[in-house]
Amino acid sequence: MPKIVFVETDGTEKEFEVADGLSVLEAAHKNGIDLEGACEGSLACSTCHVVLDEEWFDKLDEPSEDEEDMLDLAFGLTETSRLGCQIIMSDELDGLRVKLPAATRNMMVDK
Ligand code: FES
Repeated sequence: MPKIVFVETDGTEKEFEVADGLSVLEAAHKNGIDLEGACEGSLACSTCHVVLDEEWFDKLDEPSEDEEDMLDLAFGLTETSRLGCQIIMSDELDGLRVKLPAATRNMMVDK
């Protein structure tokens, strides 16, 4: 099973083994990591925004146009930002390091 390392906003690193095929967002939720994901992976928010190390960013497929559009709305966007729900874990991504951004802006309206 691939490993994923979450780096929390205070710099704490937490490593987990996650099942193949799980998105970074699902991996976060399963392990109690505070990544929101308000739209549950349907590319309708930017609250699953994560920041990757450059080397990992380069290994991933290019984000889709829809992902780019949503990322533009993400708070604290960086050159290596991605949406966590769009990154699917696999053995190739074993050891992926994912930083949680300092803050997110929730575009979804609370009911
Ligand atoms: S959870 Fe909403 S875009 Fe990823």
